Amino acid sequence: MKVLIIGSGGREHAIAYKLNQSQKVNEIYAIPGNPGISSMGTCVPGSVEDNQFILDFALKHKIDLTVIGPEVPLCNGLADLLEANNLVAFGPTQHAATLEGSKAFSKDFMIRHHIPTAKYDEVTDYDHAIKALDNYSYPLVIKADGLAAGKGVVIVENKEDAIVTLKEMLIDGILDGAGSKVVLEEFLTGFECSLLCFVDGKTIVPMVSSKDHKQIFDGNMGPNTGGMGTVSPNPFLPDSMDEVIKETVLDPFMQGLVDDNMDYRGVIFIGLMIENNEAKVLEFNVRFGDPETQSILMRLESDLYDIMVACANKTLDEVEVKWSNEHVACLVLSSGGYPGDYQKGIEITNYQDDQDTIIFHAGTNMDNGKLVTNGGRVLNILATGSSLEEVREKVYKKAETIDFVGKYYRHDIGLI
Ligand code: AMP
Ligand code: GLY
Repeated sequence: MKVLIIGSGGREHAIAYKLNQSQKVNEIYAIPGNPGISSMGTCVPGSVEDNQFILDFALKHKIDLTVIGPEVPLCNGLADLLEANNLVAFGPTQHAATLEGSKAFSKDFMIRHHIPTAKYDEVTDYDHAIKALDNYSYPLVIKADGLAAGKGVVIVENKEDAIVTLKEMLIDGILDGAGSKVVLEEFLTGFECSLLCFVDGKTIVPMVSSKDHKQIFDGNMGPNTGGMGTVSPNPFLPDSMDEVIKETVLDPFMQGLVDDNMDYRGVIFIGLMIENNEAKVLEFNVRFGDPETQSILMRLESDLYDIMVACANKTLDEVEVKWSNEHVACLVLSSGGYPGDYQKGIEITNYQDDQDTIIFHAGTNMDNGKLVTNGGRVLNILATGSSLEEVREKVYKKAETIDFVGKYYRHDIGLI
């Protein structure tokens, strides 16, 4: 079978790695892919936002399954377009992808289907927004409605800062269209955890747990990033939460999809805040998380190709989704300066897999036969083992040996 992967990050490299293990997959293509993926398939230059190019490529090469990694092509309707042309796509339709594409849509979905979530208001007008501030205490969460590449959520500590943020989003338009509608949201306390699930529209199958580390500095300090590392299982999530999450979140979520006639096939990533054995939903993402996926997929024992096709064909209840009991750590090496400005094109050395670790490429490029940095998050170091301690030791040992100027990583992945 021939698969096409859309995207260029560590998540897509992890997906390619697992699909490459499938007996059924004999050709892997990626648009645009990355140098890591090119060791197991063909990377084709092109934009993930160019629906027509992707469709033409998939038709021409008779692709059996297209896996859509990032949210932007999903929100652009790529899955709908492929299916309309009798191609099999892994990823939800444009309508269903609005669960990530619009915070207001997603909050409305949660409230209507009795999925626990923070109290909120939706505003488009600055004066109304200022008035609505009276309904909240501080800290307060202000979210741009649309996709903002991780920059759309601001937590403010007082009314003055709230006014500045609302002005920037609603009047100055600093996030362009993404901030022309805003969600004001009650601040929730507790610990965060994300749950990824396979969905085929009828059946939902939770994956094993993982723990992301969003802030750039040790001790969860500094600005948010796309994610600086993950471990699986999540050491802080008690097993007793599984049933609570199923009953209060997953079951109403599935019923909501059916009631709203939403064709959801792919992965749903549910961001949760947990306190006093209760789970509240912070957000939905309509795709695999990055770098959660890297850790999670290392524990998948079943054939990822079979699972993805089953999601697309609504037969998820017929396939086995089996996981190992191993521990996994994924450590992100980032460019100096990330998540702010950083340089690209810096040579990377000593980056090959070894007996203890596997390297996924997140933001790299080839330049005259040399591997160079090409993004904020550059490489992911993965290790599996029988304890958190063991996998931490393996990834941190490897992190010291990989070399590029400005290399940065957190030291407390899995500990906090
Ligand atoms: P989101 O993209 O909606 O998940 O928001 C990004 C991050 O902002 C989350 O991972 C949380 O750390 C934080 N956040 C979002 N909503 C809330 C909330 N209602 N209360 C506390 N923190 C939040
Ligand atoms: N790691 C968070 C995300 O993929 O959105």
